[in-house]
Amino acid sequence: MNVRITGTGSALPDKILTNADIEKLVDTTDEWITTRTGIKERHIAADGEYTSTFAAEAARKALEMAAVNPEEIDLIILSTVTPDFPFPSTACIVQDMLGAVNATVFDLSAACSGFIFGLSVAEKYIRSGSAKKVLVIGAEVLSRIVDWKDRNTCVLFGDGAGAVVLEASDGGHSLLSTHTFSNGSYWNLLYQPGSGSRNPASDRRTFDDKLLYITMEGNDVFKHAVRAMEEASLKALAANSISSEEISLLIPHQANRRIIDATAKRLGVESDRLFINLHNYGNTSSASIPIALDEVNRKGLLKVDNKLLLVAFGGGFTYGSAVINW
Ligand code: UT7
Repeated sequence: MNVRITGTGSALPDKILTNADIEKLVDTTDEWITTRTGIKERHIAADGEYTSTFAAEAARKALEMAAVNPEEIDLIILSTVTPDFPFPSTACIVQDMLGAVNATVFDLSAACSGFIFGLSVAEKYIRSGSAKKVLVIGAEVLSRIVDWKDRNTCVLFGDGAGAVVLEASDGGHSLLSTHTFSNGSYWNLLYQPGSGSRNPASDRRTFDDKLLYITMEGNDVFKHAVRAMEEASLKALAANSISSEEISLLIPHQANRRIIDATAKRLGVESDRLFINLHNYGNTSSASIPIALDEVNRKGLLKVDNKLLLVAFGGGFTYGSAVINW
């Protein structure tokens, strides 16, 4: 059974925070942020907007493009590290918002690689015959777990969501492969120390010691990210017996312009086959790849039989890749 992507959607908060705005919050400059990261602005959720808000909007747009009714969906996989609540899953809330009454739904936690992990799980459900129509969503409101007094991290992240509809198909364009990898020995280089069972939110110290915010060893993460994204990409190319010259578009996780450029260079992918939009959105974690995919799709940049390579890296560490024949 083949797996087709029949719809894409994305949703972003209206509120935009530019580098100039951040200059007023912490000791930084537009020049530092631009040259070190490539980010110029990011979208930030307003009061009353949650991860489910953007997840549901992105999903509705993907369903509309696919011409699929919410009741036809068998499975919703929602990747996030910023759920509305620790439980129930944000996927349950989105199921209710969409009226996807026949779906099995769950959240998936693989940080910035979560969308690729979601695609991989969805692919297996469809290929095994356990599901026919699946929504995979990456959605984050990272602005709520960022310390807006810490210049090392607050300049990097943004909010938003992206979604795809996957359907079982006897032919047509396909999700050709997915590969997922994990290396738990580096879990403490990028994580949120507080709010779980080790440092519960109910403990005053968790709040006082700022444990509710993202903690990152940026330099170490950077080096691992480049190596891991290259490895995941090469595995994907080898599994499909294709060379990097045959890739029409590389869509990497959007964390840092320098990580993206270094990965593309190692793979021999020139800038005209590399998609970058992080200047507009910052790092939206598991939402970054589906937002990018929706952007290129709606701009009409994808042609039938184009081969897309998606590759991600994130906290855990987790990393992964997917090849799509559009
Ligand atoms: O989403 C998946 C996982 N995340 C990532 O992939 C992110 C990976 N890491 C990175 O993107 C980069 O490491 C950062 C952008 C976070 C940092 O860039 P860097 O080139 O690794 O800088 P650095 O951490 O080595 O810091 C260099 C200097 C430091 O000053 P000193 O100690 O050399 O005096 C920092 O204090 O830059 C300083 N700095 C800043 N200066 C101005 C750090 N943040 C800022 C800032 N503005 N916002």
